Amino acid sequence: LAKVEISLAAVPVGKNAVFEWRNKPIFVRHRTPQEIAREEGVNVTQLRDPQDDSARVQKPEWLIVIGICTHLGCIPIANAGDFGGYYCPCHGSHYDASGRIRKGPAPLNLEVPQYVFKDENTVVIG
Ligand code: FES
Repeated sequence: LAKVEISLAAVPVGKNAVFEWRNKPIFVRHRTPQEIAREEGVNVTQLRDPQDDSARVQKPEWLIVIGICTHLGCIPIANAGDFGGYYCPCHGSHYDASGRIRKGPAPLNLEVPQYVFKDENTVVIG
């Protein structure tokens, strides 16, 4: 399937849901105000793959990324690790709640797929 439609109503604040798109896991995270403030406040010059949070989200409350570790392709665990985002147990990569790599061997941030908000409660991936 080239595109997949996701209903955001099923993802409460503070939760990370996993969907599938082109046989890949898609993480849809409904970020809390605290997470948004924290990620927007990160000094990106010190990051391995420097990207502002605003360059990674279309709406601050929704983080949408491909759930595949950029090291060797494991699926990270949500709400785990030292930076409050994701943790990849295969070799210990820690991502923040913007999906940016913060610690461990992964070279790049979690990839942001193409997507559009069809309406307030619906996002279309692909
Ligand atoms: Fe994730 Fe190696 S595959 S840390």
